[in-house]
Amino acid sequence: MSLQEEIDKRKTFAIISHPDAGKTTLTEKLLLFGGAIQVAGAVKSNKIKKTSTSDFMEIEKQRGISVATSVMTFEYLGKRVNILDTPGHKDFAEDTYRTLTAVDSVILVVDSVKGVEEQTEKLMAVCRMRNTPVIIFINKLDREGRDPFDLLEELEKKLSISTRPLSWPINQGSDFKGVFNLYRKHLSLFESGKQTLADEVISIQDIHSEELANYLPGKDIAKLREDVELIEGLYEPFDIELYRSGLLAPVFFGSAINNFGVQEVLETFLEIAPSPLARQADMRMVEPTEEKLSGFVFKIHANLDPNHRDRIAFFRVCSGKFERNKFYYHSRLAKNLRFANPTTFMANEKILTSEAFPGDVIGLYDSGNFKIGDTLTEGEKLQFKGIPSFSPELFRELENRDPMKSKQLEKGINQLSEEGVAQLFIQEPGNRKIIGTVGELQFEVIQFRLEHEYGAKCSFVPLKFYKAFWLSCADRKMLETFMQRKAHAIARDKDGNPVFFAESEWNVTYAKQDFPDIEFHTMSE
Ligand code: G4P
Repeated sequence: MSLQEEIDKRKTFAIISHPDAGKTTLTEKLLLFGGAIQVAGAVKSNKIKKTSTSDFMEIEKQRGISVATSVMTFEYLGKRVNILDTPGHKDFAEDTYRTLTAVDSVILVVDSVKGVEEQTEKLMAVCRMRNTPVIIFINKLDREGRDPFDLLEELEKKLSISTRPLSWPINQGSDFKGVFNLYRKHLSLFESGKQTLADEVISIQDIHSEELANYLPGKDIAKLREDVELIEGLYEPFDIELYRSGLLAPVFFGSAINNFGVQEVLETFLEIAPSPLARQADMRMVEPTEEKLSGFVFKIHANLDPNHRDRIAFFRVCSGKFERNKFYYHSRLAKNLRFANPTTFMANEKILTSEAFPGDVIGLYDSGNFKIGDTLTEGEKLQFKGIPSFSPELFRELENRDPMKSKQLEKGINQLSEEGVAQLFIQEPGNRKIIGTVGELQFEVIQFRLEHEYGAKCSFVPLKFYKAFWLSCADRKMLETFMQRKAHAIARDKDGNPVFFAESEWNVTYAKQDFPDIEFHTMSE
C-alpha cells in the first residue's frame, strides 16, 4: 500500500465529554462494532470515582487500566480507526488537553438531560484553538431530556460553534421511538436493551411518504414532519468543508447504553472525518505524505512495575513511516535514538510493531530521554506546535520530609512534571519548588508516586496564589524591575519562562497599572 493510501485509511480521534455523559459507554460500543472487543463491559472506566485521600491503590489501579486503554485501534469498513482515550476525571484535564494535540477530530458526547456542562465548555475551547473538527453525539435519549431545539441552541451559544443536526429524535424518555437520519434519509426504530449490534434501518427517502405509517403512530409522524421542515428551513444543507474547518458541528442523537444511534455516528464519522492532515511545526507545515518520518510525544506514562523503571512515551506519527530499529533524530537533545520494541495497542493488548504511519500512535520505551512535546525526525530540527500550559488553580510548595532522599525527590518531581502530572515552577534563590495543579487529586498522586517509585517523602504547604501569569515585555528593563520588585511571587516554568503568581485579580490589575508594557498571559505561549 502506498503512503497516501495508508494515510487515507486512518482516522485518529478522541471521544470527549463532561464526566458521566457517556464517553466510556460510547467508546465501548464503538469497539464492539470494530470487533476489538467481543462483550460489553470489557472496557473498564478509567474514571477515578473515589477521591478519598487514602485510596491511592485505586489511583494506581486506574492508572494501570488507562495505560492499556490509552489508544484503541480497530478496523471497520476498510478504515483503520485509532481512538485516543482521555482521562475522565477533571483533575487530569491537562492530560486530556495534551491528547487533543494528537488527534485529527473529536466526538463530543453531551447528556441530553444535562446539556452543556462545565467540562464540555473547557474541552471545546481547546478544540477551537486548533480548529479540530467536532461531531456531537447527544446521548441518553431514553431519558426524559431537554427539548432538542433548545439543546442545539445551547450548544451554539455556549460552545461558540454552528451546529447542523444530521439525525433527529422522535420523542424521548419512555416514549422514545427512534431517530430519523436526515443525512442518509432513513428511519431507525428504538428498541430498549436490544441484543443486536447493528440498528435496523428503514429507508425513507421522502418524509411525506405514506410508508411511515407502517412504523409510527400518526401523532409522531406529524411531529416528525413538522420538525424536519423546521430544520430544513432553519439550517443550511450540511457543509463538509465547514465541518472540517472546525466551524460547524454535525449533531446526532442516540442512546449509547442501548447501543442506539452508535452505528450511525460511526459510519458517518468514517465518511466525513478527516484523515491525518498537515501539521504546523515551528519552521514550516509538515505534510503527512512527506517521505521522512516526523512526529511528537504527547503523553508519557511511568511503568507501574517498580522493577522496571522505564517509561512509555506515546508518539504520534505526523509524516512518513516509522520503522522499528531505525535511528531517528531527537530534535531537542540533538541525539539519534532507535527503538527495538515499539508497540501498538490493539484490543487492549500491547503488540510489538515494525512500522507505523501518519495518524498512528505508538508506545516507545523510554529511559528518560523524552519530555512531552519532544519531536523525532530523520535529521531536521523541528518542533510541532502543541497546546500551551494553562494556569493551574491550586498552588503548593513542595517540602522534603526526608533529608537523606533529596536527590530522589529532585529526580522524582522532575520526571513527574515531564510526564505532565502537574506543573512545576522553580523559585530562586533556594531552588524552591512550587507545584501547580487543577485538582486536589494530583497532589495525592505526586505524594504517592514519589514515595513508591522514588523512595522520597514529601509534604505540601498551601500557597495563597490564585493564578499564574506568564510574562512578556518588549522592554527588558521594565520586566527586570518588575521581577525584582515582585521576587517573592516570581518563578520559572519548565522551560525557564518567568511566571508571576498573583494572589488576587486585584493584584494583577494593580501590577498592570504600574507596568503598562508588561503582558500577563494565563497560558504559556
Ligand atoms: P463517562 O465515561 O462520560 O463518564 O460516562 P459513562 O460512559 O461511564 O456513563 C455514565 C453513566 O451513564 C453510566 O451509569 C452509564 O451506564 C450511563 N449511560 C451511558 N449511556 C446512557 C444512555 O444512553 N442512557 C442512559 N439512561 N444511561 C446511560 P452509571 O450508573 O454511572 O454507571 P454503571 O454502573 O451503569 O456503569
